Amino acid sequence: MAENFKVTPWEVKGKVDYDQLVKQFGTRHLTPQLLERLEKHSGKLHFMLRRKIFFSHRDLDWLLDRYEKGEKFVLYTGRGPSGDTHMGHLLPWVLTKWLQDKFDAELYFQLTDDEKFLNSGKLGMEDTHRLSYENALDVIAMGFDPKKTFIFSNQDYGKTMYNLALKTAKLTTFSTAKAVFGFDNSTNIGMVFFPAVQAAPCFLPTELKGKNTPVLIPAAIDQDPYWRITRDAAARLGYYKPAAIHTRFLPGLQGPDAKMSSSVPDSAIFTTDTPEAARKKIMKSFSGGAATLAEHKKHGGNPDTDTSCQYLYQMFEEDDGKVKEIFEQYRSGALGSGEVKNMLADKVVAFLVEHQRKREQARKNLDKFMLKD
Ligand code: TYM
Repeated sequence: MAENFKVTPWEVKGKVDYDQLVKQFGTRHLTPQLLERLEKHSGKLHFMLRRKIFFSHRDLDWLLDRYEKGEKFVLYTGRGPSGDTHMGHLLPWVLTKWLQDKFDAELYFQLTDDEKFLNSGKLGMEDTHRLSYENALDVIAMGFDPKKTFIFSNQDYGKTMYNLALKTAKLTTFSTAKAVFGFDNSTNIGMVFFPAVQAAPCFLPTELKGKNTPVLIPAAIDQDPYWRITRDAAARLGYYKPAAIHTRFLPGLQGPDAKMSSSVPDSAIFTTDTPEAARKKIMKSFSGGAATLAEHKKHGGNPDTDTSCQYLYQMFEEDDGKVKEIFEQYRSGALGSGEVKNMLADKVVAFLVEHQRKREQARKNLDKFMLKD
């Protein structure tokens, strides 16, 4: 069946059908039983789990079996430093932080300045390296535990990564890489090798600890193709296969199917935006309301397509009761588009002021977090 959407690690196009993706990628939906098990260990489920923002997984049941037998897991996630960090990038890090806190887990965080050099037309190696350290400030500002969090730029930790990457590279044919990542004859050979570099941190905790260590990867579903080749290689290398938990995408500001792009400033709110700029972007964002206020009052709006309602639901309003009320009032027309935009803007501005303060403080603490060869 022809898909009218496309999700790869480098491109998200069209209206994403998440159920279809689960089938296509061969992942599994998060079941009520799995959520119950997570709740048992965490006290109360994070709202991103309760609301199925994180909706899919690989081997989470296996990971919890091991955890329940006393085997701790390690978290692994990352960022491709192609520009400033936006709210979509932060979304998986919110749950990663929660998982670190609730499961007392170490986190390995990869900054792929090699990847972004290789696949960008305009960024040089120094640019992506500099952006790695800028993006690392956002990671640190999220409040990860410095004793348990290890961040590295591939350019600075290349020696360690290279030897581990070779193991997956040798077991992955070009034919598989083409099928999984869509590479063709015009793809540079650096990019053809790169998936093995993103696979490498899955095996790093095992190598560092000298014993097989379970790994859980929180990320959006676009990164899943990497785990497919990693898991195949792991089975043959005698490593545990990494487990993964997948989030859906926070939509771009221009509508429910719009994507965020670092090169389109109005498509996303960046952690470096001034509060005024962020507020302006939100006020201009796609609305699910009717064309005029009078019509909106009469017929109501659609919270499922409204950007502000969705941002509140997916990321910025923890209180289920409040979200329910906002959605009901928006649907009935009692709450206008301008009002809901202002609600979101207040939340985002408060978040940004605090995040930017912590981000500046983080400059002093980089050494506590960064791994280097
Ligand atoms: P990157 O920089 O494209 O994305 C960083 C993280 O953000 C997620 N993401 C989103 N999540 C929700 N809504 C969105 N709109 C949205 N856009 C991006 C991505 O899934 C990712 O989790 N090659 C990777 C870097 C990387 C990595 C990893 C990511 C290296 N190792 C391990 C995840 C896990 C990249 O370019 O990510």
